[in-house]
Amino acid sequence: MKYAINCIGVLTSGGDSPGMNAAVRSVTRAAIFNGIRVKAIYRGYKGLITNEIVEFQSQNVSNIIQQGGTILKTARSAEFRTPEGRKLAYDNMVKNEIDALVVIGGDGTFTGARIFAQEYNVPIIGLPGTIDNDLYGTDSTIGYDTAMNTIVEAIDKIRDTASSHERLFFIEVMGRDAGFLALNSAIACGCEAAIIPERETNVDQLDTFIKNGFRKSKNSSMVIVAESEKTGGANELAERVRKEHPEYDVRVTILGHIQRGGSPSAYDRILASRMGVAAIDALMDEQRSIMIGIVNDVIVHVPFNKAIKDDKPLNDELVSVLQILSL
Ligand code: F6P
Repeated sequence: MKYAINCIGVLTSGGDSPGMNAAVRSVTRAAIFNGIRVKAIYRGYKGLITNEIVEFQSQNVSNIIQQGGTILKTARSAEFRTPEGRKLAYDNMVKNEIDALVVIGGDGTFTGARIFAQEYNVPIIGLPGTIDNDLYGTDSTIGYDTAMNTIVEAIDKIRDTASSHERLFFIEVMGRDAGFLALNSAIACGCEAAIIPERETNVDQLDTFIKNGFRKSKNSSMVIVAESEKTGGANELAERVRKEHPEYDVRVTILGHIQRGGSPSAYDRILASRMGVAAIDALMDEQRSIMIGIVNDVIVHVPFNKAIKDDKPLNDELVSVLQILSL
């Protein structure tokens, strides 16, 4: 071993995502395989501050690869945003003999990790765990594929009733400020349009859809709306159509937190397993303040700065595929 890491702490933070447990299992077992002790930190950074820390053996992560959510629980810690909170967190790392951290989460998790690593010179590796897929430097995040499949299953069901009643449905999906879930689920479900924050204003996108698409050749339509202030959300768009086109029978479904639950897909389990092993390899290789990503099926290291700050580009080809196929 090049770098003397005898004990790591592992935590999950921010919104949970399917596959986080598979990641915790992988990190734990890869560490133990390499002779490194593992301390599980409960409730994210909050648990690091309040010392909710338990040593894990291999059997502590048995039978969790298929479970959604996170056995470590998760939280968004306001206290960790303060220097005083981070001081308590560091003191507990020292008390528990934790030399390095593996943090599983999204944007907020890595922002906290970056500051903490700078302040206390702590080696930290991040695994991208979020359904939003909004982290730069990785083709996919842990949980995105499962959430996509959950959305597809729900939209297929809505399609049945939309077409029976000849209705226009606005279906709102999660994604925070990113349209990956919305755009790809719209393609996968043969929807008529996706209204996403990355493209134009909500007004433009809705106008285009009404003018070009709806009711030309179809009796029912489904429009996927990405949650975001930029899109206005499904309710706002539906309200506008109700006013401007009272002839349309409009309904709204907001899929909500159902998108975050459920057993992870095979893809997410494998991704989480690979990334967990890569995180321990990276630590032993003296890597610090990086997120493990995957690009073209190859594991990559992405500095926290880049993963957080760079806007992940949306593939224009996908926008065009949706437009062409929703004739
Ligand atoms: O980042 C994951 C996510 O599910 C977003 O898609 C969504 O905007 C947010 O978390 C919801 O957070 P909460 O669980 O706090 O409502």
